[in-house]
Amino acid sequence: MQTVLVTAGSGSAGRNCVEALLTKGFDVVTTAREVRDLSFSREVEVRSYNADGGTDFDVLFKDIDAVVLIGPPLDGRIDKKLAPFIAAAADMKIRHLVYLSGNYLSGLTGSTLDNSIARKVELQIVDSGLKNTIVRSGFFMDNYTTGFYAPMIERGTITLATGNGKSALVAGSDVGAFIAAALARGLIGEYLVTGPEALDHYEVAELLSQKLGRTITYTPLSEAQLGAYYDSRSLNAESVEYGLTLYRAYRNQATAAVTDGFRQATGSEPMRFKAFLGLA
Ligand SMILES: NC(=O)c1ccc[n+]([C@@H]2O[C@H](COP(=O)([O-])OP(=O)(O)OC[C@H]3O[C@@H](n4cnc5c(N)ncnc54)[C@H](OP(=O)(O)O)[C@@H]3O)[C@@H](O)[C@H]2O)c1
Repeated sequence: MQTVLVTAGSGSAGRNCVEALLTKGFDVVTTAREVRDLSFSREVEVRSYNADGGTDFDVLFKDIDAVVLIGPPLDGRIDKKLAPFIAAAADMKIRHLVYLSGNYLSGLTGSTLDNSIARKVELQIVDSGLKNTIVRSGFFMDNYTTGFYAPMIERGTITLATGNGKSALVAGSDVGAFIAAALARGLIGEYLVTGPEALDHYEVAELLSQKLGRTITYTPLSEAQLGAYYDSRSLNAESVEYGLTLYRAYRNQATAAVTDGFRQATGSEPMRFKAFLGLA
């Protein structure tokens, strides 16, 4: 059985990938910037990987057959930061690289797509000569429960610059299952992986209210308000541009398309948000 290295195993995407690969019988190694124990259903070796530099790729890729590359979130410099990883994987003849990308790219065209940082990473991978799978995933349902939107839900108000945009939310466990199936079946190329329905944030807030038994509201932010928020967090210019592009795409329905990529790869139906929340 192949040994698969999954980066960012402490995060929402990484954790789900590790578990899905274990379920499928793969041997799994994962990474964190600071090596520490990470809790999975089985013991998993954790190696050091920091996209900001200082990684020994000989150690990282030792006895690894395939890789699932999950980059740091909302980082406008990932094209430069992930380049050494991709080059080292090619040098070391890694047999298959899967990259977790975003579904919003599928709604972009022309120079907006070409200038998108995530698209630049995809092209580096394609140009590397590695056997590869690009997984353009919808936003995770898990973002609202255990991920980076959870503090907003705790406060009772979703404040995002998504307007009336809809998103084909997908369960993180389904993305993990898709990636495990892609590796097991040797699927290559670009895949759009989404949940079975597109919801806007008024609908998401309503379902979360039902689940939690308290009112969750949605207050759309303007692009100027989102920019001011990023400024208050001293985000670098590239990351601000990345975030503004992503949420502009969301408002323009670039994340709304529902596909059957998950069913085709796994033979199962993707989870609905209601079921994810335990409401159905
Ligand atoms: N969540 C979604 O809706 C979604 C959808 C599509 C694609 N994605 C993509 O998946 C990726 C991860 O998202 P997530 O939701 O899993 O984020 P998350 O839950 O916030 O986790 C972030 C992960 O990134 C790692 N990380 C942060 N800085 C790093 C660095 N400099 N070098 C290496 N690792 C670093 C962290 O590892 P340590 O802190 O342990 O070192 C952690 O495991 C992002 O690139 C995102 O674009 C996410």
